[in-house]
Amino acid sequence: MKYVDFLEIGYIPRENDVLAAFYVEPAENVTVEEAAGAVASESSIGTWTDLATMRQSIWDELRAKVYAIEDNVVYIAYPEALFEPNNIPQFLSSVAGNVFGMKAVKALRLLDIRVTSNFTTQLPGPAFGVKGVREILNIKHRPLIGTIVKPKLGLSPREQAEVVYNSLAGGLDLVKDDENLTHQVFSNFEERVLRCLEAVQKAEKETGEKKAYLPNITAPTEEMLRRAEFVKKNGGTYAMIDIVTAGFSGLQSVRNRNTGLIIHAHRAMYASFARPKNHGIHMLVLAKLSRLAGVDQLHIGTVVGKMEGDRADVMICHEALGNSKHTLNAPLPPQSWGNIKPVFSVASGGLHPGHIPDLVSIFGIDAVLQFGGGVHGHPDGTRAGAKAVRDAVEAAVKGKTLEEAAKKSKELARALEKWKGVVIK
Ligand code: 3PG
Ligand code: 3PG
Ligand code: MG
Repeated sequence: MKYVDFLEIGYIPRENDVLAAFYVEPAENVTVEEAAGAVASESSIGTWTDLATMRQSIWDELRAKVYAIEDNVVYIAYPEALFEPNNIPQFLSSVAGNVFGMKAVKALRLLDIRVTSNFTTQLPGPAFGVKGVREILNIKHRPLIGTIVKPKLGLSPREQAEVVYNSLAGGLDLVKDDENLTHQVFSNFEERVLRCLEAVQKAEKETGEKKAYLPNITAPTEEMLRRAEFVKKNGGTYAMIDIVTAGFSGLQSVRNRNTGLIIHAHRAMYASFARPKNHGIHMLVLAKLSRLAGVDQLHIGTVVGKMEGDRADVMICHEALGNSKHTLNAPLPPQSWGNIKPVFSVASGGLHPGHIPDLVSIFGIDAVLQFGGGVHGHPDGTRAGAKAVRDAVEAAVKGKTLEEAAKKSKELARALEKWKGVVIK
């Protein structure tokens, strides 16, 4: 059993094969074929030597096969029986496990995956998805708009509730905690949730619109579940989870509990593996797995804001979440999703009202647009910042320019005065 024994160029993948595409840079004195075989071996049944314990039937039925190599992109087919289709940690331990550390590769990037119908039937997908969230919030024809409370840490629950109220009364739909706010000395989780949910009710009464607060429940799994139940019991509609730091085990546990909460997924730490162009895991893979696991909203990048990710990379994710049909050049043929619903793409990080026409043209209306500094940094404060965002979105979806809209909105005019042309770093 040599690494190259895992090559079967020309093999036509079967319906019950899971597919993966990797970018491979072989180590010195290693051919692409050998490196490709090493990846197929280590991620399925093999190791560095032949084995007295290997049976012919295991070899025949379970080995992964490298079925194509194009330049440095390697395509591998995995028999479905290698996996437990409702266990995403196990899937990652196989396809995205030891392989990244093998000496046979200098660098390795998992570019794309395609799972079988057993995954799309055994994994739940989002409970609500784009359509369900729109129904709950009663918003039909525009992107959802929200903010992240800033400063990201340090406000007391009472202070934060005031920011929540001002943001929602000013015209936003959603207010969320930041990724590193959970339950610290200055902000007790339960007190914060109760006060912010009260602020939501007050803003709903005044505006006649549906509003929501997204508390960050990220914690060890049993505590996340307890926090989710606390939010639900007290009338909340959302839970936010940092899905990379909490991990797929935590995310799956919350989704499988069926708490009735919409799940908003923040991707903090994703760039440690998704940013290098030659190593790690493309954001597309995280997007697909998150959709399968059942998030309703996922941060995928901004194109024009402070987060990395060029337009093509962000759009591939937007499409994988079910939001556009650009038929971009993802390495593998499109995933068939069965009954798994589309997920809202979230654009967040370094955005202000001046970006809104670009954001609408990039994402269309099925996106959540979020502005932290771009609301609370408004020269006249949070409420004016929120109104500037709302006025800009209403204008952009009608095809009006911001300059036109700013004639009737002094809040938008003031926002543009401060930020138009500012290069975000
Ligand atoms: C591991 O998970 O660490 C490897 O499977 C080690 O296996 P090996 O000793 O056969 O390389
Ligand atoms: C996020 O978590 O998405 C960020 O906190 C966005 O904040 P910003 O709009 O101030 O960059
Ligand atoms: Mg943040």
